Amino acid sequence: MEQYRRTANCGALRRADAGKTVTLNGWVNRKRDHGGIIFINLRDRYGITQTVIDQDAPAELTALAEELHNEYCIAVKGVVRARPDSMINPDMATGEIEVAVEKLVILNKCETLPFQIEEKSNAGEELRLTYRYLDLRSTGMQQRLKLRHETAFAVREWMDANGFYEIETPTFIRSTPEGARDYLVPSRLYSGKFYALPQSPQLYKQLLMVSGFDKYFQIARCYRDEDARGDRQPEFTQIDIEMSFVNRDDVLAMTEALMGHVFKKTLGLDLPAHFKRLSYEEAMETYGTDKPDLRFALPLQDFSPYTAAGNFQAFKDALAAGGAVKALVIPTAAFGKNGSYSRKQIEELEGHAKIYKTKGLAWMKVAGTEAVPLLEGGVSKFFTNAGSLDPSGSSNKELPKAITNGLGAKPGDFILLTADAKRKIANTALGAVRSKLGKDLGLIALPKNGITKPAVFEFVWIVDFPLFEYNEDNQHWETAHHMFSYPQEQYHTSLESDPGSVKGDLYDLVLNGYELASGSIRIHDPDLQKRIFSIVGISAEEAETKFGFLTNAFKYGAPPHGGIAPGLDRLVMLMAGETSIKEVIAFPKNSFAGSPMDNCPGEVEQKQLDELHLSVIPPK
Ligand code: AMO
Ligand code: AMP
Repeated sequence: MEQYRRTANCGALRRADAGKTVTLNGWVNRKRDHGGIIFINLRDRYGITQTVIDQDAPAELTALAEELHNEYCIAVKGVVRARPDSMINPDMATGEIEVAVEKLVILNKCETLPFQIEEKSNAGEELRLTYRYLDLRSTGMQQRLKLRHETAFAVREWMDANGFYEIETPTFIRSTPEGARDYLVPSRLYSGKFYALPQSPQLYKQLLMVSGFDKYFQIARCYRDEDARGDRQPEFTQIDIEMSFVNRDDVLAMTEALMGHVFKKTLGLDLPAHFKRLSYEEAMETYGTDKPDLRFALPLQDFSPYTAAGNFQAFKDALAAGGAVKALVIPTAAFGKNGSYSRKQIEELEGHAKIYKTKGLAWMKVAGTEAVPLLEGGVSKFFTNAGSLDPSGSSNKELPKAITNGLGAKPGDFILLTADAKRKIANTALGAVRSKLGKDLGLIALPKNGITKPAVFEFVWIVDFPLFEYNEDNQHWETAHHMFSYPQEQYHTSLESDPGSVKGDLYDLVLNGYELASGSIRIHDPDLQKRIFSIVGISAEEAETKFGFLTNAFKYGAPPHGGIAPGLDRLVMLMAGETSIKEVIAFPKNSFAGSPMDNCPGEVEQKQLDELHLSVIPPK
């Protein structure tokens, strides 16, 4: 190897290097044999360099070059030369030069590839994961893992500069409730007992505050046994943060500064100094979700003012039951070339809305002129029937104008409507339609490759979340985030009497429609903590066994504290313009929490089970 050790990498050489003798190591990215003259594009992590075996090269050299196939690992020694002007490739960093090969050594051959290694692989996911080590050779994966490294590095840099200590917390812990199922590790020494892998370092970071570590962070691995989705993996990474003697705004400002540093350092982008803020209620009413994508407008609007004047019974019933009627206006311009929606497309939207439990998706089209707007199609007949009068006595003839003016709808626009006795259903279903329209109508300019072409990043804080949610299935109150979040001061007297209206000092950071981070100001008063346990139905005894160590710690002068945890995988995924976190994790699990590369999870030997006091009951 010594004599073939590289003297330059495949992305380094420029015109100024012409005349130098160099040795390059790398993989054959592409070979072009022009009968006599052979071009070999050599690739490594740093780039691609064109190497050439000239027409007059020694016969053995040409013969060896002819043996090469894609992904052979080789070393070449040769002289850098400037390419003639006509041969310069402006798309390659090394496009002004090539290396005239004098020596070629095959370091290792490559068998027939299961798929071609391209910038973006066309292979199926299972195949990509089976041969992940090959998939990771693609430029796309290489760039994304580079971005991930740079992001983690920028985080550490900012945290250190701002006085945070990175402190590791254990990964064999007592089960911490975060809402998901735990991964368990059986104990050999304690028969029948288990460690749990942490769903997050939540309790430990709070204990570190009790210990006086003021400002803590950790790039922490978390484990949750839940169904995988595009933005979820069974093991993932959080940028976990906790601070003492802070209020909500301190945590938000810290996070904004951290994100600002990371985006500037990695993508060269300037983020606004402060992000927008919406209350949970505003987010639900305007976007029908607590994860709104603000890269496009399309707000949900209140249709209830027009319901009484019309005669659509479903809408009237929804309002009478204390629910809501919500409208969404799709401007003609949004349809682009097609100019409209077909019945089939509306049915498809309705199908999508119904996933969110709404009974239907009503629609009307605005026609006529701006001066005299008309409503057509769908449920328009209920709002244009001149025969009926609204309670105020005005003729329904005026209703189309009142509706279109009120909603800001112009001729050609579509109005989509949901009504439900439950406000949340009307909002959520129409919000889901809004999100789908954002994608279907291309309202979001998705960059092809977020790394090279900066995307639009719309951050928004969602604040003032309800502290509790009622679980209809199990008929009891649960905490919306986790049990350690602080109820806002003004609700402390009504926690037990009216849990549903209690707002917590909770916040989420949302980026482009994804929940990027979650956090809260914590409870530091053991008595208040006990009240929360009791409301969510955790007995004093259970609280003592599960969280006794935390409530005990709080008895020893626990400082007020709060924190947040951005997901590193989601952050890098969004920065890279991807929609799956698998694209930014070196060795992710597939959708069934398995790894087809090493066949994990796998069986273990009987001896191992015996040592762990376990026996396997085969599934029925
Ligand atoms: P939470 O459970 O909301 O809060 O998680 C915080 C952030 O972690 C990321 N995340 C995930 N990423 C990938 N795969 C998953 N399965 C997954 N689950 C969560 C998300 C999410 O916003 N201890 C609290 C934080 C705190 O209160 O400080 C917590 O874990 O980006
Ligand atoms: P119907 O009168 O039930 O045939 O409904 C007429 C139209 O109104 C259909 O397009 C339904 O999808 C829609 N619709 C019915 N109920 C609701 C509702 N609660 N919210 C929104 N649209 C509805």
